[in-house]
Parts: sequence; C-alpha cells; structure tokens
Amino acid sequence: MNEQDQIIRVPIPSELLKDGIATLAIDDRDIVVVSEEGGYRAIDRWCPHEDGDLGEGLMFGKHIKCPIHGYIFELTKGQCLNQLNIRARVYAVEVDQEELVLRPLS
Ligand code: FES
Repeated sequence: MNEQDQIIRVPIPSELLKDGIATLAIDDRDIVVVSEEGGYRAIDRWCPHEDGDLGEGLMFGKHIKCPIHGYIFELTKGQCLNQLNIRARVYAVEVDQEELVLRPLS
C-alpha cells in the first residue's frame, strides 16, 4: 500500500469544533481527532495497551491519558510515557477547505 492509499479525507466533524474532540470510524480504522493550539492531532482510538477508549481520554497539552489504566500517550509521536515499548499510531492532520486530511505517521 503506498502512502496515497493511506491518506484519509473526511469532512471536519461538527463535534470537533464544539467540544474539541471527535471520534471517526473510517473503513477499518477508529480514530480520535482533537483540536490543539489552533490545529488538530489524531491518534488511533483504541489504546494499544488493552483497548481502552482514547475517545474518552483526558487531553492535556500534547498528550492524552487513557481512561482505563491511565497510560499517557504523546499525540505527536504516539509514544506511551508509561511503557516505552508501547506506541499508538498517530496521524499528521491538515485542513483542506472543509475537510481534514489525515496521514499516518507510524
Ligand atoms: S487500556 Fe489504556 S492504559 Fe491500559
């Protein structure tokens, strides 16, 4: 699969504009998108530790905290700060007119 195949385009979800967080289900992927410092960041919805719902996670700065065991993930690289061998897939997010363009980084 080439990089172009992995790019996801979706209309900007209205809940993202209102609450600053939205969950997306696109094909076989569930993704959490958050607004942060005037831009957007995205991470796979299901925690790579034991499938906690990061869509219910606590956002702070460039991090999100899983609601199940409290592991913290960087939204920039997906790195888990609690266990260095765990990493979540994150996405670069750009806005193109009324759409979000997500590109997997990991
Ligand atoms: S399921 Fe997310 S930290 Fe355990």
